[in-house]
Parts: sequence; C-alpha cells; structure tokens
Amino acid sequence: MSTASDRPVIGFVGLGHMGGAMAARLLGAGYEVHGTSRTRARAEELIAAGLRWVDGADQLAKTADVLITSIPDDAALQLVADSITPALSGGQVWIDMSTVSPQASREVADRVLAAGAEFLDAPVSGSVPQVRAGTLTIMVGGDETAYHRVEAVLGELGRPTYIGGNGQGLALKLGINISLAVQVLAMAEGLLLAERSGVDRELALRVMTASPIGSPMLQAREPLLLDLPDEAWFDIRLMQKDLVLALETGRTLAVPLPTATSADEILTLARALGYERRDIAGVFEVLQRLSRH
Ligand SMILES: NC(=O)c1ccc[n+]([C@@H]2O[C@H](COP(=O)([O-])OP(=O)(O)OC[C@H]3O[C@@H](n4cnc5c(N)ncnc54)[C@H](OP(=O)(O)O)[C@@H]3O)[C@@H](O)[C@H]2O)c1
Repeated sequence: MSTASDRPVIGFVGLGHMGGAMAARLLGAGYEVHGTSRTRARAEELIAAGLRWVDGADQLAKTADVLITSIPDDAALQLVADSITPALSGGQVWIDMSTVSPQASREVADRVLAAGAEFLDAPVSGSVPQVRAGTLTIMVGGDETAYHRVEAVLGELGRPTYIGGNGQGLALKLGINISLAVQVLAMAEGLLLAERSGVDRELALRVMTASPIGSPMLQAREPLLLDLPDEAWFDIRLMQKDLVLALETGRTLAVPLPTATSADEILTLARALGYERRDIAGVFEVLQRLSRH
C-alpha cells in the first residue's frame, strides 16, 4: 500500500473547509491521497490536483495506510465508523481530526482497536489559513507508538503534540475552545462598556488588544470586532457545538464550567438574533442590540 518513496498512502474522509485544505496540503507535500466525502462536487478541485476519488469510506480502508477524517460531529463519526471498521484489514492508523465528544471518540477507538487497527483523536486549534500555512496546533490522544508512526504526516499540517490516551486530545481541545468563546465575549463586554462611556471604539480596541489581556486570538480578531464581516472565520454555530461538548464533558466529570455556561447562553441568544453563520466576533453586535442606546 505504501508509495515508492515509502510514504504512507493517505485516505481522507470529509473534504470540507478543513479536510479539503488538509488533503490539498498533503498532496502538495507529495503524498498519495485517496479521498471521499458526502458531496463529490466539493472535491473537484482536489481531484484535478491529484486526489484519487473513491466511492465510500469502506474503500479507503482497503487502499490506505493512514486514514484521516475531518467531519462535523459525533453522528457523522459513527456513520463513517460503521463504514470503515468492518473493512479494516489491520495495521492501519485512523486519525480523526474532527471536533467530537471524547466519549464518542473513545467508543469508535474501541471498535477500531478490536479490528486490529489504531485510532487517534487529533483535533486541531486553528482554521483554514493555519492548515494552508502548516501551523495548526494538533493535540493527539491514543497509543503513543501509533502516534509516532504518523507524526511526520501530522507534521505537514502543523505542530502535533502527544497528549495521552484516547479522548485526551479532544479533552484539551475543548478546554482551549472554552477560552476562545469566553475571551471574545469578555472583550465584547469591555469594549461596549468603554464605547457607551464615550470612548472611541477603535481606540479602545487598539489599547485593549495591546494590553496584557490582548491574546494572539483577540489581536487577530480586532478588525472583525470593528466591522463584522459576512464571511465567518469561525462561526457561532460551530463555536456553540464545541461549548456544548465541553459542558457535557464537564457534567460527566462533575467539573463546573461557569464562564462556558454564560458564553453558551449568549451564543443561543446570538442564534435567535440570526447570527448563527456569523463569526464569533458577532457577540459584540448582539450585546450592542441588547443594551440601552
Ligand atoms: N472550520 C474551522 O475553522 C475548524 C477549526 C477547528 C476544528 N474544526 C472542526 O473540524 C471538523 C470539520 O470542520 P469543517 O469546517 O471542515 O466542516 P465542513 O466544511 O462542513 O466539512 C465537513 C465535511 O464532512 C463531510 N461529511 C459530513 N458527513 C459525512 C459522512 N457521513 N461521510 C463523509 N463525509 C461527510 C461534509 O460533506 P458535505 O460537503 O456534503 O457537507 C463536508 O465536506 C469539525 O468537526 C469542526 O468542528 C473546524
């Protein structure tokens, strides 16, 4: 199955925003990439760039050494697992780079291990620009030897770090995304307070992001907080999906998540006001609309 250069053949499932960009990067790095997704039309550019299309994830389990999935949620992961797992011949490593619940991921890991293959959760922090630049933060859970077998592949996409057993990459990813939501919300609150006190919004933002609370993420979002674009970098719907996964995990482990709970409520409100597909910086406009003018 390996290519002449002895690099593993990659089988990709889910060629959307993230998966499509990852497959393109691996093709660009010289890997042989086979792939499938729900909608073939979305993959035409990749096929033109050399991706070998197959009909169905089960086909990939027969031709690829390393399977990579980048799919929306637990339900999609279970569907794909139903297709892939019976077709595994053993020895392959399946890397799931989706953001799903640690519990669903561990359940799939058990099935894959029972079929004689390896399963790693490898969720990412960063978006399409970071995939293209190869600078994703990648947190990996699962067997450490299996991780080392695919470290070079993950290294093409970003900076992978081995975290621990199955589900632990995801637990850390959910932890990071609590801060993503809460930081944006706290910044929006402070900014509105300053603006309604008469401070110019642009000036307030510049000083706030240059102050000790200006994380790299908040610094990058400065233009979006000034003028919310139509095209999201990371939309409110996906942000809430991750917060809900964190809240469910917190409930299971009896870990209170008070700021994640507040942020979740504001995201529900944002969706009710029509901001579902807008960037998370849209919480500033939501608070503006709720406050006295
Ligand atoms: N976008 C980001 O910035 C970002 C950042 C970090 C993590 N993530 C996570 O990465 C994952 C992918 O996100 P994304 O933004 O790339 O989403 P996306 O653009 O919606 O891509 C998901 C892809 O999976 C395909 N798919 C869905 N169900 C499938 C199935 N059963 N079998 C095969 N293919 C299936 C979809 O097909 P269709 O084309 O038919 O919809 C789509 O191409 C998510 O878990 C997300 O939370 C995203």
